[in-house]
Amino acid sequence: MSVIGVLTAGGDCPGLNAVIRGLVVRAHENDDEVLGILNGWEGLMEGHVEMLDNHAVEEILPKGGTILGTSRKDPYVHGDGYESVARTLKRNDIDSLVVIGGDGTLRTALRLGEDGANVIGVPKTIDNDISGTDFTFGFDTAVQIVTDAIDRLTTTAEAHNRVILVEVMGRTKGWIATYAGLAGGAQAILIPEVPYDIEQIAALIRRRHRHGKNYSIVVVAEGIEPPEKVTLQKDVFGFDRLGGVAYQLAPVIEELTGYETRVTVLGHLQRGGTPSAFDRVLATRLGAKAADLAAEGQHGTMVAMRNANIVGVPLAEGCAEIRGVDDELFSVAQSFFG
Ligand code: F6P
Repeated sequence: MSVIGVLTAGGDCPGLNAVIRGLVVRAHENDDEVLGILNGWEGLMEGHVEMLDNHAVEEILPKGGTILGTSRKDPYVHGDGYESVARTLKRNDIDSLVVIGGDGTLRTALRLGEDGANVIGVPKTIDNDISGTDFTFGFDTAVQIVTDAIDRLTTTAEAHNRVILVEVMGRTKGWIATYAGLAGGAQAILIPEVPYDIEQIAALIRRRHRHGKNYSIVVVAEGIEPPEKVTLQKDVFGFDRLGGVAYQLAPVIEELTGYETRVTVLGHLQRGGTPSAFDRVLATRLGAKAADLAAEGQHGTMVAMRNANIVGVPLAEGCAEIRGVDDELFSVAQSFFG
């Protein structure tokens, strides 16, 4: 029998509870115990843990958020790195630490691993930008939420002959924008990976309205280059706190097209609520795989989806780069612009 500690750190996303449930149930099948660490790295530094038996995870599958809580604290920023978590790991006899997080969290896990902790990473983020895995759970749910929003915004835009800019999350990458824009039939999609020309976007909008279309939906990824530089606040990992770039674009598009241009920033709606069926299944499989890697003592690894299979890969692969939208996908989306 070994003891697995599990924590969720960084921003939440739909499916975190499904991972925890998958991990706990499989760990018990493997005769291992699971300790939940509360509020991310903060709980690990401060020693806040609780036992997770099968009963504790019984009804959490459809729940958004995380039963363990999360925080933006980091042991290398707010503590003494490995030293600040070693006490909790030792005191609770934790043999494997399963860290469910995005790229910032996984990088911290990698560093802790190099400094002596037995870590296993589980990639999570609505942004879908973690390398080493085909998809991250949370992404599918976010895309569906944005697609539903585009469908609704289309009918109101059409009633008023308006242009609506739908700003979506995704940080420095345009996965949510591209998938949801494609699924929602948007007239243009602006993503950080591909430079945009506002004059061209405006010309495209003018042309379609002249040809009798009474609406245009432009999906704007929050991380695109803003028309004017603004100083952004940073989060604890040093990432820009994004949001609101569509408000800068709207008056420019309105001026260039002559059509009333409005903005909807979907924000945290994209992260809340119940995970989609796809995300529930993916998250559950990742949790079960993390329990198996722990049972096998395969530390320094990350669970990942590769060609529809769930596998263990070196954790460093998940931290190698922030993965961007591929050209083939974006070129398909571009075929439907206008
Ligand atoms: O990384 C997930 C994400 O939702 C990004 O898409 C977004 O930019 C960021 O987190 C927002 O983080 P917070 O909730 O801390 O403002």
